[in-house]
Amino acid sequence: MREIRYYAACNLGLEEVMAKEIADLGGREPKTQRGGVQFCGDKKLGYSACLWLRSAIRVQEVLAVGAVRDKAGLKRFIDGLDWQRFLHVDQTLSVDASIRDSFLNHSLYAAQFVKDVIVDQFRGRHGRRPSVDTRDPELPLKLHLRGDRATLYRDLSGASLHKRGYRPIQVKSPLNEATAAGLLLLTGWDRQSPLLDPMCGSGTFVIEAAMMASDRAPGLERDFAFQQWPDFSSGLWRELVLEARNRARAGLRRLPDLEAADHHAGALSLARRSIDAAGFLDVIKLQHAELDDLQPGVPPAILVTNPPYGERLGDMGEVERTWAALGAFLKSLRPPMTAYVLSGEPSLSRQLRLRASRRFAVRNGPIDCRWLQYPLESRQDG
Ligand SMILES: C[S@@+](CC[C@H](N)C(=O)[O-])C[C@H]1O[C@@H](n2cnc3c(N)ncnc32)[C@H](O)[C@@H]1O
Repeated sequence: MREIRYYAACNLGLEEVMAKEIADLGGREPKTQRGGVQFCGDKKLGYSACLWLRSAIRVQEVLAVGAVRDKAGLKRFIDGLDWQRFLHVDQTLSVDASIRDSFLNHSLYAAQFVKDVIVDQFRGRHGRRPSVDTRDPELPLKLHLRGDRATLYRDLSGASLHKRGYRPIQVKSPLNEATAAGLLLLTGWDRQSPLLDPMCGSGTFVIEAAMMASDRAPGLERDFAFQQWPDFSSGLWRELVLEARNRARAGLRRLPDLEAADHHAGALSLARRSIDAAGFLDVIKLQHAELDDLQPGVPPAILVTNPPYGERLGDMGEVERTWAALGAFLKSLRPPMTAYVLSGEPSLSRQLRLRASRRFAVRNGPIDCRWLQYPLESRQDG
């Protein structure tokens, strides 16, 4: 099969775990860069990457790379591809551009220019042209201009890969599914030991943990842009999905103790709906409990949580008390266990009164965070 160059994007801080995921899928020559990983492989690898990468947000295929110094050069670069290979005339496309130190200054202009070259090629050769759909196009394209080097990608994923399909409604969750999965991968959790999230909100950590433990492909219940493409290999895709379904079925037989709690009834009902949609209602134990009263059914070996940061002014006193309560709760658990806490604010993590043994720098949406590791070997204070 033809060797294809890919680029997968992830949240800042998750590049190494994603590179490991890519290598495990058989990706060749993985090269980590800020916010993503380049790699090579065949068509099957691109499909597998969409289906299996837990920490990725997007998977793109490189269509062309070249030197581009002016508009005429950009026109030649885009027109050099036979666009019928990538799109039917009655399908839709979108073009996004990202520009640095280039002859063009405006990314919107560059995107428009590329789109015009493509539709003009269709019109010239076939008398008809495809339309643009910026929301849900069959062919999402991305142009990168860095100096005089141009790279054109097509996005295999379509909708962001964090959309697994188990959220009945898209909640304004501060932690998306791919980030939660990436944070779990950073812990090195063995996927067998008991895991607890005592402030679970909509339940992202425990659901992602259940998916990992049961060997469920995160993309099993959704569609991808590449399924609409003229060069889509439906037989190859069917095989991959069948294998993933078999693995998910077998995986349900060996699930660890997974527990989640929250003091907010609304959050818990959202969590329950997502857990149900993901098919883990019998697997994940949910408790409606205040941190101070929480009694885990099984002593956790690992705790992962994303406490509130207090986004509104005036919340800080209450939020600090929540973090202090979390610190007390961690100290009440039976050692040995390891806790991982996502903090966007050092003054809050200090309230835990515990010493972190590792700090992973990660970006959660717009917030620079630390994924703090607290090994609780024996009781620690202050
Ligand atoms: C930032 S959200 C967690 C979001 C979560 N990671 C998700 O996937 O949706 C923090 C959660 O902590 C819960 N919480 C805050 N204080 C708590 C307390 N004292 N006891 C239990 N839960 C608490 C809130 O109700 C909220 O759902």
